Parts: sequence; C-alpha cells; structure tokens
Amino acid sequence: MGMNLLGRSILKPADLHPDEFLYVLDLAEELKGLKAAGSLPPLLKGKSLALLFEKASTRTRCAFAVACAELGAHPEFLGKDDIHFGKKESVRDTARVLGRMFDGIEYRGFSHGVVEDLARDAGVPVYNGLTDLWHPTQVLADLMTIRSHVGSLRRARLAYLGDARNNMGHSLLVAAALTGMDLRIAAPRALFPDREIVAVAEILAQRTGARLTIAESVADAVRDVDAIYTDVWASMGEEDKLAERIALLRAYQVTGDVLTASGNRDVIFMHCLPAVHDSRTAVGREVLEAYGMEGLEVTDDVFESSHSVVFEQAENRLHTIAALLVATLS
Ligand code: CP
Ligand code: NVA
Repeated sequence: MGMNLLGRSILKPADLHPDEFLYVLDLAEELKGLKAAGSLPPLLKGKSLALLFEKASTRTRCAFAVACAELGAHPEFLGKDDIHFGKKESVRDTARVLGRMFDGIEYRGFSHGVVEDLARDAGVPVYNGLTDLWHPTQVLADLMTIRSHVGSLRRARLAYLGDARNNMGHSLLVAAALTGMDLRIAAPRALFPDREIVAVAEILAQRTGARLTIAESVADAVRDVDAIYTDVWASMGEEDKLAERIALLRAYQVTGDVLTASGNRDVIFMHCLPAVHDSRTAVGREVLEAYGMEGLEVTDDVFESSHSVVFEQAENRLHTIAALLVATLS
C-alpha cells in the first residue's frame, strides 16, 4: 500500500483519510512487534522534534519523547514557561523559528487556533498533542486497542458516556466515522458534541458505513457493545465547572451495572486517562469525599477490573505516535 504521509501535519482525526488512518494503525502494530523483538531500526536518525506543552501531560509527552529516543531522533521538551511563546514572541514568529531548527513540532494547549497557526507558519509537520477541540493522537491509540480486542473496526460497537463535547467526544466521533465503527454516544443534551462536528462526521459516515448515534440513554447506548469508553467530567482548563458537571453527569458514571447492561461478558472498559476513580490523588480525595462518591466518571472497581484495558491504551500511545512520526518524517 503506497501511503504518502510525508510532511503532513495532523491537527485533527480527519486530517487522515480512512485508508491512512488504518495504515498508521498497521504501522504501529509493526513497530510494536519490532520493539518487542528488540529490533526497532533508527528510522528517525538525525531528526529533532520540538515538544511544546502549555498543559500538563504524562502519556503524550512520554510517548513522543520515548518514540523519538527509540527511533534515533532528539526530542526537545519546551514547557510553557521555558520559551517566549505567547508572552514575548507570537505564535507565528515561534513557528518560523522552530520550523528552521526542528523537523517536526508537537503542540499541546488550549485553543485549537494556536496549533493551526503553528502548522501554517512552521513549514514542518505539526502534531496536535491535545487542544480543547481535538485529541487526534489519542484516538489512534484507542482504535488500535479496540481493533486488537475486537478484530476489526468495521462495525465495532463502542459506547462513549459522559462529556461528549470535549476533545475526546469529538475525536472519537470522527475517528469512528472514518473507520466505519458503530459509535453510540450517551450524554445529557447540554453536553452533546458540537453540531458542526457532528455534521462532518455524518458525511464521513455515509462514505464509510459507520453508524453514529447521539442520545441521552445509557442503557440504549451500551446494549451489545464491544467497548465502553469514558473521559473526565471536567477537562483541563474547565476545573471550575466540576460541580455543575457532577450534577449533569452522575447518571453517566461507568459502574459495574453499566458493564452488565452491555450484555457482553467480555466488554472492555476504556479511558484516555488520567481518570478520577479513587482517593489516591489530591483531586480525587477532595472531590470524592465532598460528594460521597466512589469515583467520578468511573468507579474504582470497574477501573481495576479485568475488563479495563486502560493501560494497554496508554502503552499504545507510544506505538501509534511512533508510527505517526515515521509516516510523516521518514
Ligand atoms: N491521555 C493523555 O493525553 O494523557 P496525558 O494528559 O497524560 O498526556
Ligand atoms: N478531555 C481531557 C483529556 C485528557 C487526556 C482533557 O482535555 O483534560
């Protein structure tokens, strides 16, 4: 399959055509196998990557850094207080400087407009490591994980519960549309995905045969599914909305009963992480005690159960990001 992704920026899932999306997943499987065999070739030897982070990150940062190291490239982490970006120097000027020194730029931040501006002016591939609107590298790992459990993405049945208007709701909607999945979103009406994004996903779905359902009922969404996915109720930058979200989303918590309602004994539980599922973090302790809840978007017993594939998903961030870098840079 001759797939030419060389030089491409990936700012949102639809920047990959359906066959390219699957190609990146195939390449990720291949790189995962090579790594396990200890024979990853230095496919990115001599390349340098700028990793720009305006928000915190564990998985995305580490996946980019380790992928670079393992493939022979140099990753340079640039935290929000490390460079002039956004304070003394505009996005445009920063993009033109970094583009002359680095072979690619990863950016995580708030406004999606910033990553678009970077991509416009850098002259090298830009990868969106999460904005308020999209999280494209996450859904590559998610679909890699689903495919490895279900066999094929075509008509694989996925329920997404919770905040459907965040970067994950939007990214899963479009990724499902691109790959012909059967995605059922269950959310309160106030947190339905953006209408324009739904319209784009529906056009894609007509071409690929995907089934997309957006409704309020959890029971309808999870019936007969292969996988149940949730994300935090207050994304980074929206922490002040948590009380309001808890009121809206209590009924969308992934509990043991929700897994049972799928009717599938082998249903898998997915989460992009980090998750609010126990009191071992400052956030968890404060919130769960105040509300007397056992986990927010997911209960601790589901998170720790044999259904949970969340750490496999996290590992697959590395393989899919490695594949994306190889496909676009070498
Ligand atoms: N899932 C994800 O993007 O994790 P990080 O915020 O740790 O990068
Ligand atoms: N929706 C979450 C995803 C974190 C990986 C956030 O934006 O905080």
